[in-house]
Amino acid sequence: MTVISAYTPFVSLNDKQHSISYEEIYPEERSEKFTFAYLGPSTQRALLLKAAREQYTLVTDHAVPSILNKDEILVKIVAIGLNPIDWKGPAFNFGIPSLPWVNGRDLAGIVVKADKSARVREGDIVLVPSTDYRDIRKAAFQEYAIATHFNAARIPPTRSIHASASLGVAFVASALALGVSFGLDFALSSACPGPDLTEVVRQLDMETIPADIREECYSGLSKIERVKPGDWIAIWGASTTTGYITLQLAKLAGLKVICVADIARHGARLVDLGADVLVDRHDTQRAIDIIKGVTRGKLRYAIDIVGKDTATLLQHTLEAVVREDGSHAHLLGLTGLPKDRNSHIIYHTVPIKLFHESPPVGEQMVSWLENLLHSGALQLPEIIRTEGGLGNVNASLELLRQGTASGKRIVIDLAG
Ligand SMILES: NC(=O)c1ccc[n+]([C@@H]2O[C@H](COP(=O)([O-])OP(=O)(O)OC[C@H]3O[C@@H](n4cnc5c(N)ncnc54)[C@H](OP(=O)(O)O)[C@@H]3O)[C@@H](O)[C@H]2O)c1
Repeated sequence: MTVISAYTPFVSLNDKQHSISYEEIYPEERSEKFTFAYLGPSTQRALLLKAAREQYTLVTDHAVPSILNKDEILVKIVAIGLNPIDWKGPAFNFGIPSLPWVNGRDLAGIVVKADKSARVREGDIVLVPSTDYRDIRKAAFQEYAIATHFNAARIPPTRSIHASASLGVAFVASALALGVSFGLDFALSSACPGPDLTEVVRQLDMETIPADIREECYSGLSKIERVKPGDWIAIWGASTTTGYITLQLAKLAGLKVICVADIARHGARLVDLGADVLVDRHDTQRAIDIIKGVTRGKLRYAIDIVGKDTATLLQHTLEAVVREDGSHAHLLGLTGLPKDRNSHIIYHTVPIKLFHESPPVGEQMVSWLENLLHSGALQLPEIIRTEGGLGNVNASLELLRQGTASGKRIVIDLAG
């Protein structure tokens, strides 16, 4: 197969319309019909990270990324949702494959190019969780981005495109944490049934799952370890965007949810979203005692969304014994796990890359997300909508870093 560099647009995208046939690009696969025809610019505005611990630099001559295969679509970005990783990555020098680099994990926009076989059409408004951060073409801090059609969810006209831009990565992390790591069956939701991701994973060829997440992907497969309706789950950091989504997905599938957060600030919203028990985060020993009291010391599932220290606190709330049926307690850390571990607890990290590496998983997840948005079963994060386009990203990330956004997502408007 011909290898085409991400930096080498094989269609010249000047101001005129150009087209090129799939056969010209992939001559070995002449049986497949795939024709590009795209009207648009060849360069765009983008934010470049030129060095770690630096701010992003706005450039106006970055190449519009190219479609490389028929699973890929081109999206004109309308709104960008900011994630903590967008400032943490440069600040702590991680998640940067090379320099200069383009970052940005959540986007929403208009599909301007898609193959006829794709599950989305040109003109569709979609949200894209850009978890494949090693592919610079898919980053959100630019005017046009590549996505795969199985990672793009259509936004119904009833839902705000800007609020939808804030949702993607949080949804992917929550759904995989609950559905794969803990084995929660979303098909059990009566309000909006979703996939049984454990079953989807079971049907995959194991070789198609990246080696570094294989163990995590199969950890929830055993029936006795899977969380089920009626079980308790505790979320530390429930007022994070990821926490709000995790709470909602857990409630949809029938779990009882304990939310640890600043209750004076976020309690009302957590109650609206279905929290069963609220625990204030500021007195940590009291929080542990309350969780143990409410669950009679039998808590088996917990998710931390804040960091290693709170994951360590959460560890103390779990019933750390192997039960008679051989099952364990489970702790998942989205931002770190305790240093000192308990041999009776199974520790998890979210297998986030399953979303973009496995088309069946990605497609089932975005199809369900479309239904969740359409049916209204999922409430969107509250957002702070920011004008000023890419030029306002650095200042907005500083607000995020300072914690000023507290409980809300900052969304950058690119349409204005
Ligand atoms: N591994 C992955 O693939 C993955 C995926 C998604 C997210 N994450 C990580 O998960 C974390 C949350 O991400 P997000 O985007 O959902 O966050 P976010 O929406 O930006 O989170 C902001 C919230 O965090 C709360 N918070 C801060 N310190 C806290 C503490 N000690 N205890 C409880 N709550 C606290 C704040 O509450 P107050 O208002 O009370 O200050 C605020 O409401 C980030 O570290 C992110 O990198 C990882």
